[in-house]
Amino acid sequence: MDDTSSNSAEQTFSDASSPDLSGVRVALIGAGNMGGPVGRAMLAAGVDPANLHVANSSRASSERAAEELGATAASRQEAIQEADVVVLGVKPYQILDLVAELGHDLPKDAVVLSLAAGITLSRIQDALPAGAAVVRAMPNTPISVGEGAVGLMRGDAVDDERHQLVHDLLSRAGVVVDITEDQVHAFIAAAGSLAGFAFAIIEAMTEEAVRQGLKRDLADSLVQQTMRGAATMLLESGMHPAVAKAGVCSPGGTTAEGYAAFEREGVRAGLAATMAAAAARSRELTDS
Ligand SMILES: NC(=O)c1ccc[n+]([C@@H]2O[C@H](COP(=O)([O-])OP(=O)(O)OC[C@H]3O[C@@H](n4cnc5c(N)ncnc54)[C@H](OP(=O)(O)O)[C@@H]3O)[C@@H](O)[C@H]2O)c1
Repeated sequence: MDDTSSNSAEQTFSDASSPDLSGVRVALIGAGNMGGPVGRAMLAAGVDPANLHVANSSRASSERAAEELGATAASRQEAIQEADVVVLGVKPYQILDLVAELGHDLPKDAVVLSLAAGITLSRIQDALPAGAAVVRAMPNTPISVGEGAVGLMRGDAVDDERHQLVHDLLSRAGVVVDITEDQVHAFIAAAGSLAGFAFAIIEAMTEEAVRQGLKRDLADSLVQQTMRGAATMLLESGMHPAVAKAGVCSPGGTTAEGYAAFEREGVRAGLAATMAAAAARSRELTDS
């Protein structure tokens, strides 16, 4: 396909204003590694803790998760009663059974927000009563510090108002973009799994800094601050990364010499293969 417009994830919904979300009722079913940060982002966006109902697999687990988040524990049925948004943060293999169980008790206008990787909108919609509003979200773990990325895939029954509500609820997670289900595999390569690759790259660079003689805590802070600073420079200036790179490669200098090794050792090709493998695995794992 050579229609490049279909490859751009567009931020079509506004994130400039800060609407009052204190009255929005959210059911968070599954507040684990990903559901927890999603709940935290919603609280940061202004959801009242009394209106964020957390239901895990047992009462004790729900209470623990609710206390950690500063939200309210509930049973699954209590949580979804009168919910405006029902976040499904359970494992992908559990989600269709859960949806089938909850489906008929969902409030008519509620939006179901699925975090499950690889489970398509049509599978979730088919397990719910006809006309149910479903949005798929693909977040990454840096949303836990408000610096993540979330790709949203909008189901047919989601009107603009409810889609804007989902954007507003996630506005403190980081960058929130609308993508198609075809784009989610590339999104996983460029954001979802990329968080893991970034940790691995930072770890590898830190180890080499230690091997070059720096103390570990100094190596940690230099590598992490430099990676953050480089990303912030690009984000704030809009500069192309190749231009920024050329700006630090003085003729005959250290960076030019290091960069030659970067290409000679196949780092670029290795990174491309890493991302391509993640995207390919995402395609394999997605049902149809
Ligand atoms: N982790 C990531 O980086 C990532 C990235 C993108 C998308 N996702 C998606 O996020 C979803 C959750 O993954 P995760 O890594 O957060 O898993 P997780 O840490 O294992 O969390 C799963 C949560 O679901 C709860 N749960 C299990 N069965 C339940 C039930 N019957 N009713 C209510 N709650 C139940 C668990 O509660 P208990 O602790 O009480 O069992 C736990 O809080 C998955 O669908 C995954 O595809 C994850």
